[in-house]
Amino acid sequence: MATRKKAAKAKAKSVAKKSSRKVLKFKPKRPAAKAASGNGLPRPSSKPWGQAGRALDGVKILDFTHVQSGPTCTQLLAYMGADVIKVERPGVGDITRGQLRDVKGQDSLYFTMLNGSKRSITIDSKHPKGKEILDRLVKQCDVLVENFAPGALDRMGLTFEHINKLNPRMIVASVKGFGPGPYEDCKVYENVAQCAGGSASTTGFREGPPLVTGAQIGDSGTGLHLALGIVSALFQRLRTGRGQKVLCAMQDGVLNLARVKLRDQQRLAHGPLSEYSQFGEGVAFGKATPRAGNDSGGGQPGWILKCKGWENDPDAYIYFITQAPVWGAICDLIGKPEWKTDADFATPPARLPRLRLIFDTIEQWTMTMTKFEVMDTCNKHDIPVGPILSMKEIADEQSLRATGTVVEVDHPGRGKYLTVGNPIKLSDSPQDVRRSPLLGEHTDEILRKVLGYSDKDVAEIKMSGAITPPEKPAKAEAA
Ligand code: COA
Repeated sequence: MATRKKAAKAKAKSVAKKSSRKVLKFKPKRPAAKAASGNGLPRPSSKPWGQAGRALDGVKILDFTHVQSGPTCTQLLAYMGADVIKVERPGVGDITRGQLRDVKGQDSLYFTMLNGSKRSITIDSKHPKGKEILDRLVKQCDVLVENFAPGALDRMGLTFEHINKLNPRMIVASVKGFGPGPYEDCKVYENVAQCAGGSASTTGFREGPPLVTGAQIGDSGTGLHLALGIVSALFQRLRTGRGQKVLCAMQDGVLNLARVKLRDQQRLAHGPLSEYSQFGEGVAFGKATPRAGNDSGGGQPGWILKCKGWENDPDAYIYFITQAPVWGAICDLIGKPEWKTDADFATPPARLPRLRLIFDTIEQWTMTMTKFEVMDTCNKHDIPVGPILSMKEIADEQSLRATGTVVEVDHPGRGKYLTVGNPIKLSDSPQDVRRSPLLGEHTDEILRKVLGYSDKDVAEIKMSGAITPPEKPAKAEAA
């Protein structure tokens, strides 16, 4: 017996020795691995570029967004590989599904072009069972994104405190019209933000009213800002282990994009803005940054000029920039070589009061060619020009298709449509541009596969009315 015990002890000792040897064996390797990757991050993948998954693989987004600003953000995250679960009201969905419809009875392009690569689940967030499902989703997801009117999320019971208690790692990201302050309770749409963010007062012609721009800098612009906030919060969570609130106010987002105009506001205190054509025209400046028409926002004067065919084609124009280093080449091209040495034209300050004459002269030359011919000719001399491309030309542009910036997807209801793919290209992360989901298309799948509900649970949920539209009241019997 004693010998057996001795033998067992000896065996245990040798196992312990072996295992400690194993540990010792591994020890020197660990610091080496850390040093190789820096900061203890994983070693570089040995998989070929583009085959190590997508940038946001594994990130789950509880997408409570609607209309444009929030959906822009979550669509980008979906393109980057996140699993975006869009929660919509049963029977109704995102209001844009039915707005600006071009195909009867089908989801509009407004909706389909902002909700690609997502999954859709219908949940009545005010139904007790719906609240229970949402709580489960909160526990399962990494980020909740919303752009409801101020207070709406709280009214659903989804306060930050509640969410944080259920899932301390969750990031709660919101778009609101205004940040904290006098207007924080206001509902806001695109053009409200363009006006409140300083864009409209600085857009348009001096003699005319303020103008909004076609680019959706209030909605899509703020959605972009929010996406950066979310990815930053996800990155910080790697260190802190906890989520946080991310807020992007549309007014702030627009101002961020219009910051050069706040720059000019401050420059005004030190004298007139010499690069604005009103300076050359001798028109006095007021107290605020004025509208500058098509003046270039930087130090290189520019203007939009007519090209061949402008009489019939509203987009036969080109943006022409008289960049100082290529002034000599411009003079030669337009047949004014003498301007290179003429004191009135040879230097940028001398040209400022004569910009109207200069652009009129250049226009006489651009009108002899199509905008594409002007572009070809100018680019040979490094002269920056921008053809005014119509949306038709952009839709037909094959190079944009080739890069995945414009993508054709197939929809079971409406057929093929074009959408804007991911404008951000990552060399190791393939793009994921898929059609938008039908209303509630993935409800069953998400309940079972993401939330783990059984057949019996799903049947009960269906009966509860939490995922289906409320019954329409029965028609009164005919008398
Ligand atoms: N189940 C039940 N109710 C739901 C629901 C669901 N799945 N999804 C939304 N709702 C409810 C909300 O709880 C809210 O109800 P409540 O006001 O009774 O609490 C209601 O739908 C409407 O939400 P709201 O955001 O007020 O929509 P709206 O159509 O009145 O306003 C905006 C639209 C865009 C003006 C507003 O949402 C807003 O200002 N958002 C912030 C700024 C923004 O993103 N603007 C740009 C949009 S592109």
